[in-house]
Amino acid sequence: MGIVEELKPIFSPKSIAVIGASRSPTKIGYEILQNILVQGYTGKVFPINPESPLIMGLKTQPSVLAVKEDIDLAIIAVPADFVPKVMAECAKKKVKGVIVISSGFAETGEHGKQLEEEILQIARRGGIRIIGPNTLGYKDPIDNLDAAFVYGMPRPGEIALISQSGALCIGMVYYANGEHIGLSRVISVGNKADVDDADIIDYLAQDDATKVIAMYIEGIKDGKKFLESARRCKKPIVAIKAGRTAAGSAAASTHTGSLSGSDAVYHAVFKQVHVQRAYDVIELFDFARALAYQPPAQSNKVGIISNGGGAGIMIADWCESIGLKVPNLTKKTADALRPHLPSITTARNPLDVTGDARFHRYHATGSIMLSDPNVDALIMTCVHAGIARPMEYVGAVIKLVEEKRNLKKPIVACWVGGPEIDEVVQELKVKNIPVYPSAMRAANAVKCLYEEGRRLDLAGKNKQAKEASPSP
Ligand code: ACO
Repeated sequence: MGIVEELKPIFSPKSIAVIGASRSPTKIGYEILQNILVQGYTGKVFPINPESPLIMGLKTQPSVLAVKEDIDLAIIAVPADFVPKVMAECAKKKVKGVIVISSGFAETGEHGKQLEEEILQIARRGGIRIIGPNTLGYKDPIDNLDAAFVYGMPRPGEIALISQSGALCIGMVYYANGEHIGLSRVISVGNKADVDDADIIDYLAQDDATKVIAMYIEGIKDGKKFLESARRCKKPIVAIKAGRTAAGSAAASTHTGSLSGSDAVYHAVFKQVHVQRAYDVIELFDFARALAYQPPAQSNKVGIISNGGGAGIMIADWCESIGLKVPNLTKKTADALRPHLPSITTARNPLDVTGDARFHRYHATGSIMLSDPNVDALIMTCVHAGIARPMEYVGAVIKLVEEKRNLKKPIVACWVGGPEIDEVVQELKVKNIPVYPSAMRAANAVKCLYEEGRRLDLAGKNKQAKEASPSP
């Protein structure tokens, strides 16, 4: 059986046992059961508790061995020292997959390491795959299953999130919700005693709901396996690799029992297999959103339109300083732009459409710039000067994104201003158009789309296509 079939009972279970389902609302075992039920899971649920006959109106069983029906997934939330016994019962019952929520394993020292090895061996003998231990569980907003112990579902979307940290995982879900970023699957992997990042990448690679894989990693045990999965995966992967410094690395070893390893080695491996590296949560989602909702860039040549000279210049600086190009426009483009511009403005890249621009100037210049063969990506920026019309520019960006999809040139927005801008950009976020509050973030997002183009070898493919087609 391949990894996809092995993980299916965990991520698409027909029945779930919650081992350590508690009577007490303050306990994690209570929360897990409640989240599963509140979210409206339609499969069978078996609360396991030897002390109480009834929890949340459901009849309990003292052990999985007392359950008459098959169990696809068992979620274990009993103290670590009891997990080997419970795992042995799961093996006897032929449970297919297990999530071990409990902490107290490799992250805590020698005794915990032995416990982790013990449950792993029991699971291997029983043919059970384990997520965790020391995990939050997972949240599936597409199939509406909340198998985690902190309340709150992500907005459904196309970005899968894999996180080695449980608490950060929830923080990321809340951040994504606030940014209108939809997620497909959210998986907290904890100590990765058995199922690791590579397995989950393989699983998500075939998941129709997932377009982009975003990861928070503290350590990878089997580098070769990761490399092979990442290389096999046809979808873009963005990753934070934490524990980059001596202080971060020491913290990771007590958090999830991870060996952070040499940062330079991770960097080289990521580069080799085109995993794009992000350095914090905001950057992770900046990249993931761009990758999920804009086409990859076919080259590094960026057009820039601003309603204020300074913003355009800053974006140009950022682009050039990170390896993008801000090319000259063709004569044809400059000639086409001129009738739309005030006489004081030069038709060049970056293009300053000046502060009195309205919808039509912003839209028309964007449209012309996108037709320039020297431009393969467009950054449209708005600074909220007194006479600017940010809402009209939002409309122009939305229209351009819709009209120009066939050109396969990414468009990102950069909106700089105060709280009133926050309100205006909601419109873009709701429509999944990447919008950033700084030149640096907008330029980095385009760089990420350019790297994705390189991963797919778009420039090479276009060249081949041109060479193959007969000359006119
Ligand atoms: N089978 C079934 N149920 C059992 C068993 C058993 N063998 N043994 C005990 N239980 C029941 C208990 O009776 C209890 O139910 P009750 O409250 O109705 O009496 C319930 O299971 C829970 O058992 P407790 O002993 O009360 O354990 P408690 O809930 O205090 O703690 C827990 C268990 C949550 C797993 C704890 O040990 C733990 O590990 N907490 C940390 C979890 C965590 O943070 N995970 C990682 C997060 S992600 C990250 O940040 C990396």
